[in-house]
Amino acid sequence: MFNKKTIRDVDLKGHRVLVRVDFNVPLDEGAVADDTRLRASLPTLNYLITEGAAVILCSHLGRPKGKVIPELSLRLVVKRLSELLGQPVAFVADCIGTEVQAAVERLQLGEVLLLENTRFYPQERANDPNFAADLASLADLFVNDAFGSAHRAHASTEGVAHHLPAVAGFLMEKELNYLGAALEDPERPFIAILGGAKISDKIGVVERLLDLADRLLIGGAMANTFLAASGLDMAESLVEEESLDIAHGLIERAGDRLLMPTDLVVADSFAADAEKKIVAVNAVPTGWRAMDIGPETITNFKRALQGARLVVWNGPMGVFEFEPFAAGTTALAEAVAASKCKSIVGGGDSAAAVRKVGLADQISHVSTGGGACLEFLEGKSLPGVAVLIDRDSPSSA
Ligand code: 3PG
Repeated sequence: MFNKKTIRDVDLKGHRVLVRVDFNVPLDEGAVADDTRLRASLPTLNYLITEGAAVILCSHLGRPKGKVIPELSLRLVVKRLSELLGQPVAFVADCIGTEVQAAVERLQLGEVLLLENTRFYPQERANDPNFAADLASLADLFVNDAFGSAHRAHASTEGVAHHLPAVAGFLMEKELNYLGAALEDPERPFIAILGGAKISDKIGVVERLLDLADRLLIGGAMANTFLAASGLDMAESLVEEESLDIAHGLIERAGDRLLMPTDLVVADSFAADAEKKIVAVNAVPTGWRAMDIGPETITNFKRALQGARLVVWNGPMGVFEFEPFAAGTTALAEAVAASKCKSIVGGGDSAAAVRKVGLADQISHVSTGGGACLEFLEGKSLPGVAVLIDRDSPSSA
């Protein structure tokens, strides 16, 4: 269970609170294209406002590599955030320095100020202690509610917590309670589904899930590497040659607990309008590539999900951003949503897939984390969480 202090455990009234949120949201023509992460922060923000704190928000947006990139300014989220909060959100075009200090001093209790993208400074990713101290000097309490960034040991996620009392927000608590409970004492049968492209990023997760889950279903491009490792010719499909040996070892270890595709939707090029056909995994034609799991695989995967008590799903089953190759991911999203079991969907793409088919509210928990979710599933400690005050610590914030 989550063993860190939260905003529920500390005195907030009259305090200046620096909140690290994950507002790394998709943008389209300068506006927020998906406000899920903004909405996910609302319980914490509304609580802090109601409890009478002055709320200073910081976040990264994209990967500006330590430079000021106007297209990645957090100014672009102000409008949507104000609408969601139902009150104005002030913005300052920097995250440290005199202008920021002045804006913080003007901030009244119950008001919200959003700082500029922390990654406009290279010191953010370098977890520079001076930069962290400058951020910390703005407030007297630090709240980390950025689950999606908790795997990063950056100045605004980790460094700052060495300079201020640091507790978790409600989103951080909720994410870790769900994921933690699922993995500590999984209800069985526990079925894990993994997809997405890169197997090298997910080897640790596959290993851990093979220990924990009753069955592991593999789809998406990562299945290509497993299929190639079992001796099949995948033609032009994306295969990670350097991971073949590891994939082979995992197949041997897993036995029949590992379920791989038996058929695929293949295409003659990587394009939405490519020619496509359904083939058995041992019959991928020369010059063609796997783009989605096939209908037989969908049936097999659905059957494997029947009777499950816990399903954890991370990564799409195919190139779902191309409509003709979205059927596998969509069918899985529908099957997971329809099952009455506890279901957890993590990773930006699979979460986007369940939202796209309008089924997110039928999933027990759709995680706001991509990489953070994977690292947690892998059993790694998350630096942005490790640094928060332990629940049983006598230190009061
Ligand atoms: C995410 O979207 O997964 C988080 O915001 C972290 O972003 P990053 O991978 O650029 O650190």
